Amino acid sequence: MDAGSIRQGGGALEDVVSLTSIGDPRQKITVATLRDKKSQSQPITCLTAYDYSSARLVDEAGIDIVLVGDSLAMTMLGHENTLSVTMDEMLHHTRAAHRGVKHAMLMADMPFGSYHAELNEALRNATRFVKEAGAEIVKIEGGEKRADLIRRVIDAEIPVAGHIGLTPQSVNVMGGYKVQGKSLGGVEQLMRDAVALDRAGVACMILEGMPREVAAMITAEVKTPTIGIGAGLDCDGQVLVLHDILNLTFAPAAKFVRRYVDAAELISHAAHAFRADVTSRQYPAENESYHLPRETQAALETVLDRKRAMKR
Ligand code: KIV
Repeated sequence: MDAGSIRQGGGALEDVVSLTSIGDPRQKITVATLRDKKSQSQPITCLTAYDYSSARLVDEAGIDIVLVGDSLAMTMLGHENTLSVTMDEMLHHTRAAHRGVKHAMLMADMPFGSYHAELNEALRNATRFVKEAGAEIVKIEGGEKRADLIRRVIDAEIPVAGHIGLTPQSVNVMGGYKVQGKSLGGVEQLMRDAVALDRAGVACMILEGMPREVAAMITAEVKTPTIGIGAGLDCDGQVLVLHDILNLTFAPAAKFVRRYVDAAELISHAAHAFRADVTSRQYPAENESYHLPRETQAALETVLDRKRAMKR
């Protein structure tokens, strides 16, 4: 069956060639799903996850996009910012998350330096995320000035998510993590960035750290689904860093972060309780221990008795 005959059925390719097993009610999220969600005003959900277990839980919660963000430089590796995380580290975490994801779209962040120097290197690095780590889309920070590069990556059959506004990889140029687009000039630049990404054909764009009014204007202007973080309610979807919503960042939360669970408290409580149980010899209890089978116990006692008798 060729693609033409598949399309004759009237549905998109995704409707016919499904990666989801028969009987599974959840569809695989694709770039087409994101476009459909925007056109049907259904909010898109995205959370970061950087390993198998968290990616699996996020996927099973029905989140549309699992983002292996370069924020893992801070949350997982303890760096001060995102600048030092390497391609190999990003690939390692993307592979782990990939094993946990079934339905969500797996998005990988291209780290700082992996697409800035040279086009062919950028294409090679984007390809590695797909080929070696199972990513379905790569995220690239920057608007207007990245549009040509993004076009070339899409030409290489790799979907791209744009990311504009407060772009953490530009921290040194921005002079800190500052909300962008607060002046008229800033608003105009953000609009130009959004339109450039839209024309370049990105599958979605992250709008980070900008006034709600600006994100609303962008969302109304572009056909591309927008996914906001610190950009207000009017975006086509929302993304947050998992460690932020779990209180696992050891830092005060930004204004836009909603903390759903205090995992720091849970983990700390469990570690303290384990320590107390071990030091007071309350752990392990009898029902947490393995025992010899009765026959082996009896045989062992016979052997020990013999040894004791020989010593006398
Ligand atoms: O790296 C990351 O987690 C991100 C999100 C903040 C969008 O880019």
